[in-house]
Amino acid sequence: MIQQLVLIGLVSISLLAVNGPNLDESAEPVTGPGFNHKAIVGVEKCVDCHKHSAEVWKNTVHYKTITDMPRSPKAKEIIDKMGLRRVKESLCTSCHGTEMWDSEHNEMTVEAGVSCESCHGAGMGWVTVHGEFSGKEEDEETEAEAAKRWKASEAAGMLRPSMIADIARNCVSCHVIDHEELVATGGHPAVSNFELLSWSQGNMRHNNFYTNGKENKVASAERKRVLYVVGMVAEIEVLLSSIGNANAMNIYVKTHAKRFSNLRKQFISVAAASKDESMLEFAQYLKTVGLSFKAREALIPASKKAGEFLDNFSATSDGSSLAGIDSLLPDPSEYKN
Ligand code: HEC
Ligand code: HEC
Ligand code: HEC
Ligand code: HEC
Repeated sequence: MIQQLVLIGLVSISLLAVNGPNLDESAEPVTGPGFNHKAIVGVEKCVDCHKHSAEVWKNTVHYKTITDMPRSPKAKEIIDKMGLRRVKESLCTSCHGTEMWDSEHNEMTVEAGVSCESCHGAGMGWVTVHGEFSGKEEDEETEAEAAKRWKASEAAGMLRPSMIADIARNCVSCHVIDHEELVATGGHPAVSNFELLSWSQGNMRHNNFYTNGKENKVASAERKRVLYVVGMVAEIEVLLSSIGNANAMNIYVKTHAKRFSNLRKQFISVAAASKDESMLEFAQYLKTVGLSFKAREALIPASKKAGEFLDNFSATSDGSSLAGIDSLLPDPSEYKN
């Protein structure tokens, strides 16, 4: 999607920077709606070794959207308003599906709904290395070898559950619609009511690999806190850059600004409850961010600041010292099913 947006001149280039763990800034992002579709290996490949993950995935909206969305009257309406021809335009399938290069026919196809590699990164560079124990039996691989294997996988664009800031940025790159025309002209929703904890621990939860399908554990109390904070800030980061880069004052900007204001309020209360110094400091900073459309360029450095906080927070906080925020977290009955 990103390449396309650049062509029609609407994009915030800065999205490239928040999208996935790109080591080389000039490379195509490997995840989210702008991933490098030529590096997608396809869900069937993952299922060879991860059948339990796939069983869960098949019951989610992400799996179904590629067939359900095009059938909805709302989709037709969006397409008409945008003057596009088909509901399966790449603009739509870049978020409602996983695009994959078909080298036999030299064309792009949609391999499935939002599938494994839309969230874990295009697999070509890491699919083999991450799952082989350095060419040994599992229990013969040394710790150093395992560390090297994971490092190589991450460098090749794998998004692992531990890389939670980048995972969250990736969710948000689809769930905040950073496309002015799609929203302002097409009438597409501008944002989801996204919240990482409750949206990842409901029916999309597939923490069932390491128990070989026996258990599908909800995140620990500590990780829940991290998911909650990280999701909020990842969204703040992308909202600020999308408003900062907007061309005109319209429904797109208004919705994103309102969403930002709400998240800011929420973050400020969460920081107060946490008593965490770095969160309090970032909350203090957020209070100074002005939302004037005229001065919107100032939101770009503010977005960068959010990104820095996010990286730092996710690298240093394991949630163990944040018990103060527990009463503010969504209740398990609110997890998305
Ligand atoms: C040849 C078998 C194999 C294939 C194919 C495979 N995986 Fe894996 N995967 C593994 C193994 C084994 C592990 C756990 C390695 C370990 O315990 O150190 C793993 C772990 C993972 C993890 C968890 C990493 C972590 O940090 O705990 C993710 C996510 C993952 N794979 C995603 C995928 C995706 C997405 C695909 C398809 C693009 C895929 N895998 C294809 C074998 C495979
Ligand atoms: C940047 C990612 C992105 C792009 C591009 C995108 N969508 Fe969506 N779409 C979403 C998300 C995320 C939702 C879910 C919104 C929510 O949580 O309510 C959604 C929801 C929808 C819905 C349901 C809306 C409703 O009111 O119930 C329709 C229909 C839809 N999209 C059609 C399209 C069509 C048609 C296109 C292409 C012209 C398109 N989308 C492009 C991300 C995207
Ligand atoms: C919508 C995004 C999304 C999709 C689609 C997705 N995953 Fe995940 N996956 C995640 C997140 C987020 C986590 C970490 C969840 C947590 O910590 O509770 C995860 C965790 C995992 C793990 C670690 C599981 C464990 O037992 O600890 C594996 C393995 C994995 N995913 C593989 C896959 C495979 C294979 C597919 C496709 C069939 C897939 N994922 C589809 C987002 C996704
Ligand atoms: C490639 C784009 C993309 C990525 C990445 C993505 N999503 Fe989604 N997600 C969508 C779209 C599109 C929909 C709406 C589908 C529809 O309504 O047809 C959706 C719907 C959902 C829903 C259902 C919402 C509802 O109202 O029922 C949940 C939950 C969800 N996503 C969670 C996540 C999480 C958590 C992540 C990251 C770990 C994530 N998504 C990453 C595109 C994406």
